[in-house]
This record gives sequence, structure tokens and C-alpha cells, in this order.
Amino acid sequence: MLEISDLITAVDPRSGHRLPVSRAEVIRLLDEAGDARAARIVAGLPTDRDGLLDPDAVDRLLISVHAELQRLSEELRIGERLVHLLGPLLQAIRATNGPGRYRLVDVGCGLGYAVRWLAATNALGPDVELVGVDLDAALVAEAGRLARAEGLDCHFVHGNAFALPEAATVYISTGVLHHFRGPALTEFFRSQAASPAQAFCHFDIAATRLAPVGAWIFHLARMRHPLGRHDGVASARRAHSDETLLRAADVPGITPLLYEPRGAANPFCTTLRPIIGVRPHLEDPFRRSLGRAARRLVGPDYLIEPTR
Ligand SMILES: C[S@@+](CC[C@H](N)C(=O)[O-])C[C@H]1O[C@@H](n2cnc3c(N)ncnc32)[C@H](O)[C@@H]1O
Repeated sequence: MLEISDLITAVDPRSGHRLPVSRAEVIRLLDEAGDARAARIVAGLPTDRDGLLDPDAVDRLLISVHAELQRLSEELRIGERLVHLLGPLLQAIRATNGPGRYRLVDVGCGLGYAVRWLAATNALGPDVELVGVDLDAALVAEAGRLARAEGLDCHFVHGNAFALPEAATVYISTGVLHHFRGPALTEFFRSQAASPAQAFCHFDIAATRLAPVGAWIFHLARMRHPLGRHDGVASARRAHSDETLLRAADVPGITPLLYEPRGAANPFCTTLRPIIGVRPHLEDPFRRSLGRAARRLVGPDYLIEPTR
């Protein structure tokens, strides 16, 4: 299943410049995927005389859909969930590396809700610089505008997850992993492992059987534009399984850990859960900082079938 928002903007991966998008081409792709509803939604978007999607209208639409997505993040208490794990993770990094200046980078930050929430609450401490990165120039510009209006100490940059412009101590993301399929998912983790980063913590929709139904109810109740409703359900259907995440994050130099795997979690409560990667020497201090909650972490051995 395709997401409309992935198709209606295009960026040159090298230069970061925006490319024109033909509405007929997007409709053709959606028809080919058998998604007539999505094709009808795109058919209603404005174009110029050459049939190219109006970039300003697309930007306005994506900003309004992401503003509605922010309400979902508030309801799902994304900020608190991040701090529950990032607090102990940074505690382990400080205990190992000593005092310093650390940087957290949110990849695919959209309107920057997570970074702005962390800045507004100062939940991670003054030694952690907060940065958001996104491929969509209009979304990061709006994230920066909101942060300035809110007087927050954080910043946002335009960039690609596969050629990150800002080095980090810890990379995070929310609701982004399902956009990366096949080798791109491993490449996402591999490029962070190849950087000087100490850890990553990427939250995405848990691939439970209830996820598409839950997403449908949530998005119907909370989102006005059909594009937001469509993509909300599509993203739940595209959520990666525990196995896919643990295998893809098992890259050189990183110990992959999944928090709240499907078998150990209540599917009614687990909407998003993270795949975490730590440098091997950080695993024990991180587990100690987490305390009892460390019982909910599983590593690659979780994938090994028990033998009799
Ligand atoms: C579903 S949105 C999530 C936005 C935000 N993290 C949130 O939770 O509201 C996915 C975001 O990933 C961004 N994105 C997709 N591919 C990307 C890439 N290669 N590099 C950086 N950002 C990317 C999109 O522009 C979009 O803002």
C-alpha cells in the first residue's frame, strides 16, 4: 500500500531541491496499486496548465495534515514515551562518557512536535542540544517558525535521513520507519551506526492485528482531510514487524533492542514502540538506568526459535 504524502512531493536526493510532480503520474501509480480511493483524493489536488501539482497547495495541505498528526502525538503522549527511554539512555551515556554537550537529532521530524515538546519541558537536561531534520523543506520551515513563536531552544534543518547534515549523540524518530522499505531500512540504521552516534531510538507503529483498525478509528475521529485519513491507515498497514526491525537494526557496531515486543505487550495499549540501538558497551548501563522496565527489552536472541 502506498502513502499519498510520499508521492505528491519529490526532492532531488543529492541537491535537496524540489522536483515537479505530475498529478497524472501519481494517479497512475495509485491505480496500479489498486487504490482507487487514493487516486480520487489526488485527482482533487490543483495543478498548473501542464498537469504539475501546485507546490504551494501541496505544502499547505501537508502542513495542515501534520498539524492534525501533532494532535495524535499529544494524545498518544509521545513526549512522555520518549523521555521514559531517552532519560535512562542519556543517563547511561553521561555515566560512560562523563559530562559534555550532547546532541539529539530527530530524523523526519515533520513539524517538530517531539523536539519542541522536549525543548518546552527541558526533560532531557540543559546539556542536550535538540535538532530536527526533515526532507520536506516546507515542514522544517514551519517547525522552525513554531519553535521561534514558542521561544524554544531547539533548531530545525532541511536534510535527508540517508545523508544527515547534523551529527548526533542520539538519533530518534517518530512514525518514520515504515516509509523505508527493504534495503533502505537497513541502510537507515547502518548510516547512523557508521556515524559517531552512541545510540538511536526510533518509534513507529506496532504491527499488531489491531493497528489498522485502531488507526482507522483514530484518524476518522481526529483528521479532517481525506489524505490524512488515508495515509494514517496506510501507515498502520505498512508497519514493520518486530522481526523485520530487529534484523534490520542488527548492523555492525550496534546492539539492537526492541522495547515492548508484540508477544509481551497488550495490543490494546501498544500503539507505538521503539527499536533501540546502542553501542555494545552502553547496553548494561542502559539496562541498569531503566531499572524494572528493562524487562521489556528484547535483543536478537528473541528471534531464535526455542529448540527441544
Ligand atoms: C509520518 S511523518 C512523521 C513526522 C513526525 N516525525 C511526527 O511524528 O509527526 C514522516 C516524515 O518523514 C519525512 N521523511 C521521509 N523520508 C525522509 C528522508 N529520507 N529524510 C528525512 N525525512 C524524511 C517526511 O517528510 C515526513 O515529515
